[in-house]
Amino acid sequence: MRVLVLGGTKFLSKAVATELVRRGHDVLCAARGASGEVPAGAKLIRVDRNDPEGFAPLAGEHFDSVIDVATMSLTWVNEALEALAANAGHWTFVSSISVYADHGPLGQDTSAKTLEPLLETTDARTPADNPAAYGRIKVASENRVLEALGERAFIPRPGLITGHEDWSDRFGYWPARFYQGGRAVVPDSPEQPAQYVDVLDLANWLVDASEQRLGGVFDAIGPITPLPEMIAEIAEVAGQDIELVPLAEAKLAEAGVNPWAGARSLPLWVPGNHGMLAHDPKPAADAGLRHRSLGDATRAALENELSLGLERERRSGLTHEEEAELLLLS
Ligand SMILES: NC(=O)c1ccc[n+]([C@@H]2O[C@H](COP(=O)([O-])OP(=O)(O)OC[C@H]3O[C@@H](n4cnc5c(N)ncnc54)[C@H](OP(=O)(O)O)[C@@H]3O)[C@@H](O)[C@H]2O)c1
Repeated sequence: MRVLVLGGTKFLSKAVATELVRRGHDVLCAARGASGEVPAGAKLIRVDRNDPEGFAPLAGEHFDSVIDVATMSLTWVNEALEALAANAGHWTFVSSISVYADHGPLGQDTSAKTLEPLLETTDARTPADNPAAYGRIKVASENRVLEALGERAFIPRPGLITGHEDWSDRFGYWPARFYQGGRAVVPDSPEQPAQYVDVLDLANWLVDASEQRLGGVFDAIGPITPLPEMIAEIAEVAGQDIELVPLAEAKLAEAGVNPWAGARSLPLWVPGNHGMLAHDPKPAADAGLRHRSLGDATRAALENELSLGLERERRSGLTHEEEAELLLLS
C-alpha cells in the first residue's frame, strides 16, 4: 500500500509508521519534523498544519490509506480532508474516549451519547491547553471524517495509551514509582475499574485496519481490571522492595491530590468517573485488536520510563516530597 501518516515523528503515529514500514508498505509522513524523526524507511514530507497552504506539497496525490492523529483541531482535519480525501482509499482518524458525554456508567460502548461537537476554531492544540474543548473537537472531527469518507472511514477512540515513547507520564508513573522501592502511596479505591492500551498493540491494529479497509467507530481499549489488582500486578512486575500504602480517597482529595494526570496527581485514579476506564473492549477485540499482557505492558512502560530518566520533572504523578507528605497521613 501507499500510505500517508499525518504525523509519524512521535509516539502513536511514529509507532504506526514503523509498523507500516516493517510490513513493507510505501510510507510517507507529513509533519514538521519538530517532534522527532520519522522511522527509517519512511519519507518525511515537511508540512505545517498551522499553515493554510500546508498540504500544497501533497496536492493531487493518491493514497491507499491516510492515517490522521490530529489531536484537537477541526481546521487541521478539514484541510486534510479537502486536500486528500477524494483520492484516499481508506481514512483513519484517531479520536479519543474523551468524546463521551458521561464518564460515570460502566461498560459503555460506541452507542453511548457523545459531547456536543465544537465547531468554532480554538487556538488550543493539546488537551492541557483546553481540557473542556478536547472531546468536543474530537466529536466534530469524527463527524467530518465520517461525512467525507463514509464506509472508508475508520475511527478508533483510544483510552489511556501507554508504552514505547509515551510522553504523558501517566501509566508509566506506576512502574517507575514501584521500581524505586519503599513505601508508595496508592489510592484506596476498591470499586474502581481500570483500562489502558499499549501503543504498539494499538499501532498494529491501526495498520491491520488500513490493510483490511476496516470501517466504523470503535473504543480502542483493553480489558477491564479492578484498579487495585492492576496496581498490585504492576508493583509485582516492576517493584523492588515495595510496600503499597493505600490512602482513602477523601484523604487524597483533602490533601489536594489530583486524579488522572497533571501535577500532584495519581494517574489511573478517576474518582467519580469510573466509566472512563471501563469501556466495553469486546467490539474492538472482535475486530482484531490484540493486547499484550499487563506484565508485558508494564515492562514496556518501565523501559520507556528508564530511558526518559526517573528523576526528570514529570507531567503527571507525585514528586518524592509530595508522596512523603502524604505518607504522614497513613
Ligand atoms: N496519549 C493518549 O493516552 C491518548 C489517548 C486517547 C487518544 N489519543 C490521541 O492519539 C493521537 C496521537 O497522539 P500522540 O501523543 O501520539 O501524538 P501527538 O502529540 O498528537 O503528535 C502527533 C504528530 O502531530 C505532528 N504535528 C504536531 N504539530 C504539527 C503541525 N503544526 N503540523 C504538522 N504536524 C504536526 C507531530 O509532528 P511534528 O511535531 O514533527 O510536526 C507528531 O508527529 C492524538 O489524536 C490523541 O488525541 C491519545
